[in-house]
Amino acid sequence: MDVGAWCSQSRVWVVAGKGGVGKTTVTAALATAAAAVGLSVLVIELEGKPGLGAAFDRTGPVDYEPVVLIGRDTEAPGPGPADPPLSEPRPSGPPPGEVWARRLTPDDALLEYLSDHGLHRVSRRLVSSGVLDVVATAVPGIRDVLVLGKVKQVERAAMADMVVLDAPATGHAMTFLTSASGLLDAARGGPVRSQAADVVELLQDPARCRVLPVTLPEEMPVSEAAEAAFQLEDRVGIHLGPVVVNCYEAPDPALDADVDRVAADAGVQLDGPARQALVAAQEFRRRRLHLVAEQVERLARELPLPQLRIPRLYTPSIGPAERAILADALSRSVADLPDPVAAP
Ligand SMILES: Nc1ncnc2c1ncn2[C@@H]1O[C@H](COP(=O)(O)OP(=O)(O)OP(=O)(O)O)[C@@H](O)[C@H]1O
Ligand SMILES: [Mg+2]
Repeated sequence: MDVGAWCSQSRVWVVAGKGGVGKTTVTAALATAAAAVGLSVLVIELEGKPGLGAAFDRTGPVDYEPVVLIGRDTEAPGPGPADPPLSEPRPSGPPPGEVWARRLTPDDALLEYLSDHGLHRVSRRLVSSGVLDVVATAVPGIRDVLVLGKVKQVERAAMADMVVLDAPATGHAMTFLTSASGLLDAARGGPVRSQAADVVELLQDPARCRVLPVTLPEEMPVSEAAEAAFQLEDRVGIHLGPVVVNCYEAPDPALDADVDRVAADAGVQLDGPARQALVAAQEFRRRRLHLVAEQVERLARELPLPQLRIPRLYTPSIGPAERAILADALSRSVADLPDPVAAP
């Protein structure tokens, strides 16, 4: 399937999964792949962790003010930490082919909400006074609804072709995404209810919002991914995209080769210990890849969604070069997806 068409199926993509499975890495790769086909992308990061910036060669976490991660003319790193951020959050979003990113916390979202509702002058004072803590105690879920309300606003304003939301780890993500329907049941009327209703509407419309579950090809992550995906579908009514298998490793026929023959072909004489070590390493790797294959098959049975597989890179961290490799793998995997069947 065409990458641009695939990305454009929905404006907001929520990248979700268990802690540490690669949500931020997949967010970075997806944004890169989308920008490469000319889409404008806004990444929203919620937790202020440094991983997203690092994938684009920035040190430190992405902040409230939007920053350029991929500029229009270059795939080179965006501005470094010393560069000034774009002055104010612009009403318009990134141009085609660019990736911008911003952090969005409940306080940020409240500040913007108050400003948008004519309370600009007092909004900073109100927020810094900790009013949100008081309100959040009285109205559980309000934090999540504020953040998702802002995401909805970005989506409605069509600030970017694609909004990629780097979601919190599964447990928190479930609360994050179910809060709006909880509030909708609890609030009789007023702005909280209408905000919650708008968020639920966004989450349940596959033309506007989808989840991209991410997992590793390992036992626990696969079990959790399947369970969480069904829960999200049932409890939030959100549409699931394909599942991303991060750190995938394909079976390697070379691992069945005879060690002695390979050594002889390479003109190397193996002594006893070297031979033993090579055979042990070969067996270890063969078993590891067998487990990967097993888990990927199990995932297909337990969570029957198309799979997008991206490789494990043997690298200490994910920087721009690694991100480019993963984005390319993701694009190829999307290209292999069948075209959707046209409605009759
Ligand atoms: N395909 C990959 N190949 C190699 N390393 C990877 C790959 N994907 C992720 N990593 C590494 O695994 C670690 C976890 O990845 P990442 O931060 O993207 O996960 P996460 O799901 O966002 O974690 P958290 O739940 O803490 O936000 C990071 O150190 C990252 O560099
Ligand atoms: Mg992360």
